[in-house]
Amino acid sequence: MKSLNVGMIGYKFMGRTHSNAWRQVDKFFPVPALPVLHTVCGRDRAKVKAAAKQLGWKHSATRWQDVVANPEIDIIDINTANDTHAEIAIAAAKAGKAILCEKPLAMNVRQAEAMLAAVKKARVVNMVCHNYRRIPAIAQAKKMIAAGELGRIFHYRARYLQDWIVDPEFPLVWRLQGKVAGSGTHGDINAHIIDLGRFLVGELSEVCGHLETFIKERPLEGTKGKKRVRVTVDDAVITLGKFKNGALCNLEASRFALGRKNHIQIEVNGSRGSLVFDFEDMNRLKYYNNADPADRMGYRDIIVTEGVHPYVGAWWPPGHIIGYEHTFVHTVFDFLKAVVKGKSVDPTFADGVQNQKVLEAVEKSSKSRRWVKV
Ligand SMILES: NC(=O)c1ccc[n+]([C@@H]2O[C@H](COP(=O)([O-])OP(=O)(O)OC[C@H]3O[C@@H](n4cnc5c(N)ncnc54)[C@H](O)[C@@H]3O)[C@@H](O)[C@H]2O)c1
Repeated sequence: MKSLNVGMIGYKFMGRTHSNAWRQVDKFFPVPALPVLHTVCGRDRAKVKAAAKQLGWKHSATRWQDVVANPEIDIIDINTANDTHAEIAIAAAKAGKAILCEKPLAMNVRQAEAMLAAVKKARVVNMVCHNYRRIPAIAQAKKMIAAGELGRIFHYRARYLQDWIVDPEFPLVWRLQGKVAGSGTHGDINAHIIDLGRFLVGELSEVCGHLETFIKERPLEGTKGKKRVRVTVDDAVITLGKFKNGALCNLEASRFALGRKNHIQIEVNGSRGSLVFDFEDMNRLKYYNNADPADRMGYRDIIVTEGVHPYVGAWWPPGHIIGYEHTFVHTVFDFLKAVVKGKSVDPTFADGVQNQKVLEAVEKSSKSRRWVKV
């Protein structure tokens, strides 16, 4: 079987999930080509060497430019902070590599559009890692909505809540710096529920939002709390929206919801039924069917672990649940198929641009205190 060499840039949180996915994918899924963990890249020589050993990469590098220029490498997998995505992806496209890029695609619409133009010009396969699309329960929800089982969609309601920066002494890590992250909760976690709304319901036409920063100053990392600097990103964001198909959208993303660690909840209401998804119970999809007999009405649980459900049949026997890490395996499986076919699979960089347009429209709305067209 043909093999494809992967060069991965960034090896910490997302780099670990992606390494795991590249290692596991051919053990469970019928891949059309074998991924080879060729080179991992990070900025510190000793640390990236240790990461290569721990995560199973053949080589390590300290300059992403060397990885992108390496003719042996077929795929560039970008897992760095948001301010580097555009530069790396545009160079990778010019070098003819297929690209898997973490979300948010870029810092803003302008950058995202430049990235899209680069992959189009070079005709390289591209994908944004919105891994939550490939949770079997979410893929099942998509199947049911697309088949019309929910009828006309009225509402998409979603929240993505965390609580890791409630402490005002929590330092100003890169995710809290506008220059590196672009935005706070907005591009980090609101971007995911915007993507799921686009996936499940359709395109947004108009939005109205508010971004809030509760803690205005934080200690600079490495100064033991002595130097405090201004926080340049949002801590929470609320969004109202209208979809082109007439459905209404209601989103909440926050890093200030004590007790919520990585809480994602989604509800879709249609004329024939409703669906509810809760990430903390991700193998289950709640389904209300308005056609049920009058004395049996109520939400039922679809346990999404049968061979008939998307992706999950490749794993364990029915009822044996899967978790977060599997969503990345599903993502790289679909990406590998796309690379071999030479045709990108959703969400592509075009989806990344569209997501960024929604993010930017919400920011404009927050500043102008008006509804803004996407
Ligand atoms: N899909 C998801 O659910 C999800 C979850 C978390 C993060 N992310 C995204 O993944 C990306 C990385 O986030 P993370 O949490 O893994 O961050 P992280 O801080 O844990 O890791 C970032 C990595 O990038 C490396 N890096 C930064 N600049 C570099 C450069 N110029 N050259 C080489 N390496 C460089 C760092 O050394 C580190 O290994 C972000 O874009 C983030 O939004 C996505």
